[in-house]
Amino acid sequence: MTRSLLRFAPRLVLFVALSFLGPLVAISQIQPASNPQLASKQVNDRVEALLQQMTLDEKIGQLVQFSAGYATGPGASNLKYDELAERGQVGSMINVVGAEATNHYQHLAVEKSRLHIPILFGLDVIHGHRTTFPVPLALAASWDPAAVETVTRQSALEARADGVRWVFSPMVDIARDPRWGRIIESSGEDPYLGSALARAWVTGYQQDDLSKPDSVAVSVKHFAAYGAAIAGRDYNATDMSEITLRQVYLEPYRAAVGAGAATMMSSFNSLNGIPVSANPFILTKILRDEWGFDGFVVSDWGAVAELINHSIGDGPTVARKAIEAGVDMDMEGNLYGTVIAAQVRSSKIPASVVDEAARRVLRVKFALGLFDHPYTTPTPAYDATPERRVLARKVADETLVLLKNDPVAGVGALLPLTAKAGKVALIGPLADNQRELLGAWSGQGEAKYVVTLRQALTERLGDKLLYAPGCGLLPGEDNQVLQEASFNGAAAVGHHAPLLDDSQAIAEAVALAKKSDLVVLALGESSAWMEGEASSRATLGFTGAQQQLLQAVSATGKPIVLVVLAGRPLEISWAAQHIPAILEAWSPGVEAGHAVADILFGDVNPSAKLPASLPRAVGQEPLYYAQLPTGRPAHGDLSHMPRDAGEKFMSRYMDVDNSALYPFGWGLSYTRFTYTQPTVSRAQVPVGEVLDPAHKSVATVGVDVKNSGSVAGTEVVQLYLRNTAASVEQPVRELKGFARVTLAPGETRHVEFPLGFDQLNFYNADIHRTVEPTTYKIWLGGSSLATAETALKVVE
Ligand code: NOJ
Repeated sequence: MTRSLLRFAPRLVLFVALSFLGPLVAISQIQPASNPQLASKQVNDRVEALLQQMTLDEKIGQLVQFSAGYATGPGASNLKYDELAERGQVGSMINVVGAEATNHYQHLAVEKSRLHIPILFGLDVIHGHRTTFPVPLALAASWDPAAVETVTRQSALEARADGVRWVFSPMVDIARDPRWGRIIESSGEDPYLGSALARAWVTGYQQDDLSKPDSVAVSVKHFAAYGAAIAGRDYNATDMSEITLRQVYLEPYRAAVGAGAATMMSSFNSLNGIPVSANPFILTKILRDEWGFDGFVVSDWGAVAELINHSIGDGPTVARKAIEAGVDMDMEGNLYGTVIAAQVRSSKIPASVVDEAARRVLRVKFALGLFDHPYTTPTPAYDATPERRVLARKVADETLVLLKNDPVAGVGALLPLTAKAGKVALIGPLADNQRELLGAWSGQGEAKYVVTLRQALTERLGDKLLYAPGCGLLPGEDNQVLQEASFNGAAAVGHHAPLLDDSQAIAEAVALAKKSDLVVLALGESSAWMEGEASSRATLGFTGAQQQLLQAVSATGKPIVLVVLAGRPLEISWAAQHIPAILEAWSPGVEAGHAVADILFGDVNPSAKLPASLPRAVGQEPLYYAQLPTGRPAHGDLSHMPRDAGEKFMSRYMDVDNSALYPFGWGLSYTRFTYTQPTVSRAQVPVGEVLDPAHKSVATVGVDVKNSGSVAGTEVVQLYLRNTAASVEQPVRELKGFARVTLAPGETRHVEFPLGFDQLNFYNADIHRTVEPTTYKIWLGGSSLATAETALKVVE
């Protein structure tokens, strides 16, 4: 009890001190304990009682994680894990999966080690465990926390059946540069959307009670700002102002901690010159002192040992820096296990530092109920049952973004397809490739369960469906190189489409297109080789001969529907100009084919919206809608800025428009939604009222949204604000609310959003979240281009 009070003491002092500053400074940056379970007396009493019995080596043992299965990074160690477990020197293991494998090590730890401390088994569960759902970027396109909840609940159940109590998910890094392959694991470019979904991931996995038989602990990654890698090159340095760091990049992590995240993963990158895995400002000052985080921090794979490459010291030095900064557990680097003890014995590292790290790890283990239920009961082998498929399909249906559906002369809009579609030619290297449709980092998911587009369209069209692969995904020799470079390679070998002679395959596809009434082209990039970790790209087009294929098929003059299958925003400018209908389908998982068919045939009305801007050219990257203003805006609001040959000395490109090809929040429906003029409940509010924590909301903004078409549909209503006069310049637009609204044809719904400190604040030059007198422009609509406008004044 006293100990927990002491833990909170610095926070209390800070809280009281800031309270005296009055309403000038908002105190909401100080939060109470992030997870009441981890702060509970019951858990902490058990932790303290155990700690008192532990030797230094046993404490350090809790701070060590090994991969005894496959490797998900370079330099995997090859130690005698059985012996280490028996000696109580393996706090955690990664990549050990299944009841049998986990129970094996658990028996050694629980029955043979001196203090019987169970091992915590962690795993990368990224978009489903055995049932593979759409990739996280696609899930973000649903703008639906309920979809994320479905994924996390199913994943947790399946992971627990495999002995996994801790998932290395969610990744909440803001990703504004699709050259970075890990954008696929993110929720995209926006801190508001990213934070809303971060909360959903955490509560879905943990359910506000880690000890439930179907809960798993999360590890929120990669803390911090890993997504801002310079030039989009993975593992690269990041460098940004503290205001941008806090206002943009830290927001989703803060939301995840506020939702009770049990653990965080420290990232590989350096931030403003200091590697994050040795950065006390990030790992202690912000995470613990400001946010009240009570869980533990695990390093990313080998990130502690890699501090040597960052040139901040030798092995013992970097281990000391890491543990003192706040990295509690060393993932796979085998540095804590080898160099910490001697430094504690020689008083280079205070014993209290190791005690505190061990305390944090044990707290999570007790809260998980691991001491009471360390083993996993074997269950029948996994099967993709119809119930699981229903879940995967329902979620995937919500993630496909209809980018374009222009009328074709004499035919009208191509989508949705009708039964009278006639002969349909399905063409493309991604149309019938199970492995590729599963998506990157599909973990324990198996390609054999994937329903391809070819299978699903055959179910609907029978022999009216014609098929040709059209070309390879990559040129032959690149396939070879990438297979060797990919850590996922072993799993993917054998599932890859055979190498093709591209010219011949294109000729065959063109001949097939000519015989058909309509073409569905399934193009993109290789999820197995080009997406996810260590998969940055310097170009963003379709890979291999796919662009040639697209143009050759287009030249037949047949109506074409393009389905883009990729884990990042690709550069599809040519297609956007020449192809009338385009569906962004990402990597949809096991129900890929069915979900694409559901949308193509209109059984499901598309509702997804882009979580990241699609560029016109790769040179625009990083491209995002919430840009800061410039002194030379070519056309006012940057998000609308077209190329303007009339004005030379403006902030613009000479060769492409500044704007996105398809902007953040964009997505069409088979119906049409119209918005009335939005209204605010009060035209002006005093600043003191906004700053007063007693008022969550000081006004509301509302709009009527009408389904003006003839089919039911779901609209994601989006609220954007612009602070027009702050002491620190603010983005030209920022998302501050959204709601999914399902409307019958002709139906109108009034949608309202609160406006309060949370929506209106920004970081001032003193790094305090605050609100000043100003006018906020407010837009409501179906994308970041929303035009229905109103305003709110904040006055002295
Ligand atoms: C490295 C990755 O960056 C991280 O996301 C992952 O959780 C770990 N490896 C463990 O596989």
